Amino acid sequence: MDDPVRLAIVGCGGMGRRHLAGLAELSHTPHMNLDLVAVCDLNRQNAEDLADEAHELLGERPHVFGDAEKMVRDVDGLEAADCPTDTGSHHRAATQLLELGLHTLCEKPLALTVRGCRRIIEAAEKSGRILSVAENYRRDPMNRLVRALLDDGAIGDRQFMSETDIGGRDSILITPWRHMKMSGTITLDAGVHNADILQYYFGDAERAFGQVRLYEKTRVRRNTDGPGGFYAKWAANMPESIEATGEDAIFGQITFANGALGQWINHHAGHGDPVHARRVFGTRGSITSPGDRNGRPVRLYLDDGPEIADQRILEYAPSYRLEPAAAALFGGERIWHYNFDFPTTDRKLLALEYHELANCVRTGTQPEVTGKVALRDVALVYALFESDRAGRPVSIDEVESSAVDAYQRDIDEQLGLLQPTAAGV
Ligand SMILES: NC(=O)c1ccc[n+]([C@@H]2O[C@H](COP(=O)([O-])OP(=O)(O)OC[C@H]3O[C@@H](n4cnc5c(N)ncnc54)[C@H](O)[C@@H]3O)[C@@H](O)[C@H]2O)c1
Repeated sequence: MDDPVRLAIVGCGGMGRRHLAGLAELSHTPHMNLDLVAVCDLNRQNAEDLADEAHELLGERPHVFGDAEKMVRDVDGLEAADCPTDTGSHHRAATQLLELGLHTLCEKPLALTVRGCRRIIEAAEKSGRILSVAENYRRDPMNRLVRALLDDGAIGDRQFMSETDIGGRDSILITPWRHMKMSGTITLDAGVHNADILQYYFGDAERAFGQVRLYEKTRVRRNTDGPGGFYAKWAANMPESIEATGEDAIFGQITFANGALGQWINHHAGHGDPVHARRVFGTRGSITSPGDRNGRPVRLYLDDGPEIADQRILEYAPSYRLEPAAAALFGGERIWHYNFDFPTTDRKLLALEYHELANCVRTGTQPEVTGKVALRDVALVYALFESDRAGRPVSIDEVESSAVDAYQRDIDEQLGLLQPTAAGV
C-alpha cells in the first residue's frame, strides 16, 4: 500500500463498528489505501473497545481519544476522519473535523435538519477539505445495474417510480434516539436512503406533497442486536419501552425535474405482512429492483417479451461496469446477482466508501455523494414533513433553502442553528 491516507474513526457506536468491519474488508484487497491511526468517542469505553477490535481485525491498535481537538494535536499527519456519530451530533462533530483540517466522511443523513446540513457544507467550503457522505445503498451493485438499465434506455423513458417500505410495528428500531424528533426520527434516519435512491434513479426531485404520521407513540424492546448483530454489546442499555416523539410513517407524491413521477411510502409502524417493493416504469417496460444489500437479481419486463432475470439482462445495460474496487469486492465488473450474507455485503459497501474517500484525498477529486447531493436527499425527506405542515405541495428548493421550515424550526432552535427569537420570522 503506497502512501495510505492516515485516518481516524470518530464515533465508535454501532455504525462505527460496522465501518471498522468495512475497513478490514478493504484491507483484504489490493485496493487498501488507508491507515487507521486513531479512534475517538465522547464515550471513552466505546473508543477503547473499537481500538481493541481494530487491533484484532487490522493487526495494529489505533490511538484512543475522547476529544477530536486533542487527537489532531497529538497524532502526526492525520489527514482524514470518518464521522459515524449519531445524527443529532453531525452538525457539530463533522463541522469540527472539517474545521480541524480533516477530510471527512460523514454518515447519512448529513445532518438532523437542512440548516445543519448547510452548516457542514459551509465548513467544508471554508476549509477546502473533502466532504463525502456515506450513502451505501446506491453502491449496491444491483442499484448500479438498475441505474445503467435506466440510462441505457432499457425501458424507454423514465415515467413513474414507486418506493414502498412497510413494517416495524411498535418495536424500538435499533436505538431509542431513532424515535425522537429532536434526535433523528426513523423516517429521516432510514428514509434518507430511499430519498437518495429515488434521486439516484430518477434525478433531482422538484416538488413533493406529503403526509406524515406518528402511529406508535409507545415502542417496546424486541430485537436488541440491530442489523448484523453490531448493537448487541449495548443491549443492557435498551429500555423496555419508550415514548416516541418522531413521526414513524411518511407518505409522499413526488414530481421529478425531468417530469417523471414518484410515489413513496416509508412506514415504520406497519403491522401484519411487511412490504419492501421498488418498481420503476418506463415508456417500454418496467424494472423490479430487488432492494438493497440482498444481491437478488434485478427483473426486467418488456412489453410482449419474457421476464428477464438472469445474465441476459446485461445485454440491456451495455454501460454497466463496476469500478475496480467494487469489482474486486463483489467478484466481477458486470455481475447480475451476488450471494453474500448481510454482514458481508454491508462491509463490502462500507469498504467502497472508505476507498473512494482516500482516492479523493490523493487525487483531489470530489466524491460521488457530496454535501450538496446529501443535502438534496435530506431536503426531499423534509419536503414531506413541511408539506404536511403547510397543507400544500412544496418545492424541494424552498425546503433546501429553509424558506419553508415550520416543522424543523424547533429542532434548529434546540441545536443552536436558529435563534429562538427568529422563530416565525
Ligand atoms: N448507512 C447505514 O446503513 C447506517 C446504518 C446505521 C446507522 N447509520 C448512521 O450512522 C450514524 C451513527 O449511528 P449509530 O447507530 O452508530 O449510533 P450510536 O448511537 O450507536 O453511536 C453513536 C456514537 O457516536 C458517539 N458520539 C456522539 N457525538 C460524538 C462526538 N461529537 N465525538 C465523538 N463521538 C461522538 C456516541 O458516544 C456513540 O458512541 C447515524 O447518523 C446513523 O444514521 C447508517
